[in-house]
Parts: sequence; C-alpha cells; structure tokens
Amino acid sequence: MTAVPAALEARSLTQRYGSLTALRGVSLRVEAGEVVAVTGPSGSGKSTLLHLLGGLDVPQEGEVWWAGTRVDTLDTQVRATRRAGQVGLVFQHHYLLDDLTVIENVLIPSRLAGQRDEARARDLLARVGLGGREAALPGVLSGGERQRVAVARALAARPATVLADEPTGSLDRANAQAVAQLLVNLAREERAGVLFVTHDDRLAAFADRTLHLLDGQFTESVPALL
Ligand SMILES: Nc1ncnc2c1ncn2[C@@H]1O[C@H](COP(=O)(O)OP(=O)(O)O)[C@@H](O)[C@H]1O
Ligand SMILES: [Mg+2]
Repeated sequence: MTAVPAALEARSLTQRYGSLTALRGVSLRVEAGEVVAVTGPSGSGKSTLLHLLGGLDVPQEGEVWWAGTRVDTLDTQVRATRRAGQVGLVFQHHYLLDDLTVIENVLIPSRLAGQRDEARARDLLARVGLGGREAALPGVLSGGERQRVAVARALAARPATVLADEPTGSLDRANAQAVAQLLVNLAREERAGVLFVTHDDRLAAFADRTLHLLDGQFTESVPALL
C-alpha cells in the first residue's frame, strides 16, 4: 500500500474538564494542501481541539496523527521537538519575542527542529510583505505586521500542518482579511494542510471546507446560534 498519509488526523478525541465534556469523540482529516475552517460558538470546544491537534495537550481518549505518525502517545519532550518541525502554530496573540529581531523570531521553530535556514526565513518574510524588515524588533511593527511575522514563523520549518486559533481575532477587518489570505495562500503554495478557527464567515470562505463545532461535536448544519 502506498496511501499518502493525511497531513493531520484526529480519531475520536474526547476531552473532559471535571464534569464538563469539552470534546465528544471528534474525528477529522486534513490533507496536504487542504484548508479547513472550524467555526462554532464560544465554549464549543474549538481551542480544546486545536490544543490536542497541536500536541500542546494530550486527549483523554482518542488519537492524534501528524503526517502518518501517532503523536499523542509520545513523550512530551519528544513531541515538542517533533512539533517544531511538523506543526506551525498561529494564535490570536502573536507571541513574538520582543528582544529578538523579526528574522530571529521567524527562525525559532526551525532552530528547535535543528534545521535553521535563514534564506527560507527571508523568502517567507518577503512573501508576507515584510522584505527589508528582517532586523526590526517586533515593538516597532503594527499589529497586522506582527501577525504576518507569526504567519512566516509558522511556515518556516516546512511543517506538514498549520494550526491557527482565531489568528486574526485581534486585527481590524482589513488587516484580518489580508493576514488570513496570506496564511491560506502561503500554506497552499507550500502544500501544508491548514486548520483555522474563525468567527468570521468572510474568512471561512477562504477555506476548502468548513467544520461546525457545537457542544464538543461536529454538526452537519451551521448552528443557529452562531
Ligand atoms: N483548562 C480548562 N479547565 C476547565 N474548563 C475548561 C478549560 N479549557 C476549556 N474549558 C471549558 O471547555 C469548554 C470548551 O472551551 P474551549 O475549547 O476554550 O472553547 P472555544 O475555543 O470554542 O471557545 C468551555 O466550556 C470551557 O469553559
Ligand atoms: Mg477558543
């Protein structure tokens, strides 16, 4: 068999916080080059799902696979090193390190993965419209520019998958559109799978398909309360 493994796969993820069940047997597959949006009301389990998919937390039940390898059963440190090379993360807050230059921030995941590649980082910065700003400190950039650095950083180590939790949630509408479009375009060019959480239908429209989460499960239809 030569079946191509999914960029990302989740099998029957269940996660509880005390008596509260945040995820109820969620399964999904994201192929290389595919862009999937996840929508759902506040508290429906979106961030819990992304934390499990990114290996930042491990599921109480179920499995997480990155590019054909099961990772939820790995030792935490082994999983962290593997994450640096295989999963790009973008959050609502940029989480850039203020004391490092833009290019050094972009290089963090590839350094952790043992494959520091400065030419690659420069190329990505140019592609997000920040050519020439490599030596700047994050503090002098606008909010939209910082989030574009975070997008470049997420792709620097050539990850199989990019996970983004409301990546444009702190930006104004014009910047949100631009950053989401950049993330999706770059990931498609790089053949990475993307799964991004958004509250905004205009951003979900950039995806190949949209999954709706309600009360810890995917639903067929758009929840009426959205
Ligand atoms: N660390 C935690 N401890 C207790 N409850 C949590 C924790 N994280 C999330 N929850 C609860 O789990 C549910 C899903 O949360 P979350 O995944 O953050 O949803 P969303 O991102 O869709 O808003 C919510 O009811 C939330 O209050
Ligand atoms: Mg959330």
